Amino acid sequence: MIEFIPRYWYNIVPDLLRPLPPPRDPEDSNFSRIELLNSIIPKEVLRQQFTAERYVKIPDNVMELYSLAGRPTPLMRAKNFEEALDTPAKIYFKYEGATHSGSHKINTAIPQAYFAKEEGVERVVTETGAGQWGTAVALAASLMKIRSTVFMVRVSYEQKPGRRTMMNLYGAEVYPSPSEITEYGRKELRKNPSNPGSLGIAMSEAIEHVINNGYRYLVGSVMEVVLLHQSVIGLEAINQFDYIGETPDVLIGCVGGGSNFAGFSYPFIGSKRGSRYIAVGSSEIKKFSKGVYEYDFPDSAGLLPMLKMITLGKDYVPPPIYSGGLRYHGLAPTLSLLVRDKTVEWMEFSETEIYEAAKLFARTQGIVPAPESAHAIMAAIKVAQEAREKKERPVIAFNLSGHGLLDLSYYQKMEAK
Ligand SMILES: Cc1ncc(COP(=O)(O)O)c(C=O)c1O
Repeated sequence: MIEFIPRYWYNIVPDLLRPLPPPRDPEDSNFSRIELLNSIIPKEVLRQQFTAERYVKIPDNVMELYSLAGRPTPLMRAKNFEEALDTPAKIYFKYEGATHSGSHKINTAIPQAYFAKEEGVERVVTETGAGQWGTAVALAASLMKIRSTVFMVRVSYEQKPGRRTMMNLYGAEVYPSPSEITEYGRKELRKNPSNPGSLGIAMSEAIEHVINNGYRYLVGSVMEVVLLHQSVIGLEAINQFDYIGETPDVLIGCVGGGSNFAGFSYPFIGSKRGSRYIAVGSSEIKKFSKGVYEYDFPDSAGLLPMLKMITLGKDYVPPPIYSGGLRYHGLAPTLSLLVRDKTVEWMEFSETEIYEAAKLFARTQGIVPAPESAHAIMAAIKVAQEAREKKERPVIAFNLSGHGLLDLSYYQKMEAK
């Protein structure tokens, strides 16, 4: 089994049709954000962020922890689901929900925590929205025998006590954001004591906490180094598909900042496997249909370097949909380029549509998907229906980025509607 795990991560940057616009400071800036990154992010993580190498070796210790945390994850055929859809298409899914932390987020949390520990750092800090990223960081830090602090968007903190408990169980300190711990949080609370929080605010609090204490900050999505680490999903899937003698035609993944979609699909794009790559967003957060391609900050406080990306603007306040992982204003720079070049197609679905998709999948395959992942399932349904109409037999593969066992309150709410 372990031989399915690749020994190298894949970086798509050298294979892009156009050079990637570099991160930069705004014109009127009086400090260097790249220098700031140098002081908050583990050095090897930052080196990988800017590498032009196509392959980056996975350290042996990281390989071991990948295996401990549940890799390789299963690649499964969804035969019952195909039957229910009455489609001639074959449908496979890569099940990242089978990792111990419950989602793909552990794939980058482990190497980032490892590189932080290598620098002798005692604590890593991050923010989390839906909770999957914070859970992954809490577990990765514990496995590396270092401490972790997580700033969790206040609405999620209140809506998802199960997530908070899981992070605490793994040993993390968890604060609802905005919090009293940081100057930024206190300022937000003075403006509005019942501020529900946002990923941007939580991110700004995490960075301030790192700067003031000499800790290291771990990044959950959007930055290229995260997409690089997530390529373990697609590379592993290629090994598994080769093993069963199958090649997928259509690759699908849901998109918040873009890391699970990129991690799954980029190795297929890079090795010219497959012919359609579909990135799926939420129609409540119209990033694909309404976003503009321009330099924007990845965080609402404007502390990180600006990235050229498809964005709804750093001050965009997303509606409170339950798929917290998709409530992000921007799209990773490489993915933004691939969408603009039309190498990658996109679709957007509403909460009602994805609920129906999740229900059908749960009833036919037994897995309760995270609502984020249900967006990918919905896209697979669309492609499978199209195949029936056109009498084609494509092989569809989607990434099931996480399980939904801690999202049952969402399903309860949808059921009551
Ligand atoms: C289960 C799950 N899927 C998808 C996402 C979206 O993130 P990304 O686009 O970086 O994969 C998240 C983010 O929190 C998530 O938890």
